[in-house]
Amino acid sequence: MASEDGDRDRLQAVLEALPAGALLQSPSDEVLAVNRKFVDMFGMEGKADLSPGRHVHRVAEIPLADGRVIRREVEPLRKENDYLGALWMFSDITDAKRRERDLERDNRALTELARQRNAFTAAASHELRTPLASISSFGELLADPSFGTLTAEQAGFLEAIRRNAGRMQRVISDLLLTTRMRAAGPELEFAPVDVPAMLAEALLEHMAAVERAGLFAVLDCDSGPTLRGDGHRLRHVLGNLLENAAKFTPPGGRIGITAAPRGVHWDIEVADTGIGIPEQYRHEIFSGFVRAPNARSGGYPGTGLGLAIARTVVELHGGTITVGGREGEGAVFRIRLPIAGPPPGAVP
Ligand SMILES: Nc1ncnc2c1ncn2[C@@H]1O[C@H](COP(=O)(O)OP(=O)(O)OP(=O)(O)O)[C@@H](O)[C@H]1O
Ligand SMILES: [Mg+2]
Repeated sequence: MASEDGDRDRLQAVLEALPAGALLQSPSDEVLAVNRKFVDMFGMEGKADLSPGRHVHRVAEIPLADGRVIRREVEPLRKENDYLGALWMFSDITDAKRRERDLERDNRALTELARQRNAFTAAASHELRTPLASISSFGELLADPSFGTLTAEQAGFLEAIRRNAGRMQRVISDLLLTTRMRAAGPELEFAPVDVPAMLAEALLEHMAAVERAGLFAVLDCDSGPTLRGDGHRLRHVLGNLLENAAKFTPPGGRIGITAAPRGVHWDIEVADTGIGIPEQYRHEIFSGFVRAPNARSGGYPGTGLGLAIARTVVELHGGTITVGGREGEGAVFRIRLPIAGPPPGAVP
């Protein structure tokens, strides 16, 4: 019959237009039609199990003898409650599979590298601790007048040794802190934190450094609910930001700390009028050992660890830390912390 032939042609045209190899099956599991892509795909040594009456899994990935991987989908065809058969579709996913495997391999390699780097940093920092402690204590002994007096010049040299040993000790404890945090996650102690009091303490701790840098600091904090967090670690984060602001701002500048509760968060901002951060470094400076070119060329000392520690602590609180401002005009660091603490099970 002409109209049946017409239906058949239309059906074949639809099958050919599908982006996959396709097979149409009758309710009694006979093959009704296949398209060209199907024939090409399985033309030779295809090993797909298409035998009638098999239990049908809706989706399957079939490895072929020639190395290709075929994804099979089965879509039952129904009109109301009548089962009209099924449309089987086949796509060649060999490339996607290979990319997936390559990606998995890369990820494993990166994880292993990160682990090795962490282990190395931890071991190296640990090894440096003992000789450094010895340098410091012999420095103390030399400074002791009961071992003889020093000339003004010698005393100056000794002071430089002690100052630098102190700086190295701080770097090492930062290193140990970051590696410990990456390895096991730091032991945060969650308790209600009074944000305005925490900020005032952090500023007080760094007031001497701010004054030494010839800067003026202003704290402007709204009152609000206590925050669930680790007050000690958060004060350390604020300390790192204030230390940076004091370091990267020329004398006569200003540091502004503002904080206010907004909805379910506390927003804290530390702004300065210093050298600022080039646009393209605004993400990287949080990754550890990264220092922007204007900091390096300006001869500002530092290791590039303060912000990495800050980010880890903030993220463990379920919060975010970002930076804005304009290069040459100052930096604005913004911390946003959920008042309720990190959502359950959300340790990054
Ligand atoms: N307030 C700021 N103004 C301008 N640049 C900043 C400021 N804070 C941070 N940066 C940039 O971000 C980099 C990383 O900061 P981070 O605190 O991690 O390291 P650091 O201060 O250089 O060294 P460390 O904190 O380990 O002593 C800095 O080297 C600098 O390039
Ligand atoms: Mg710093």
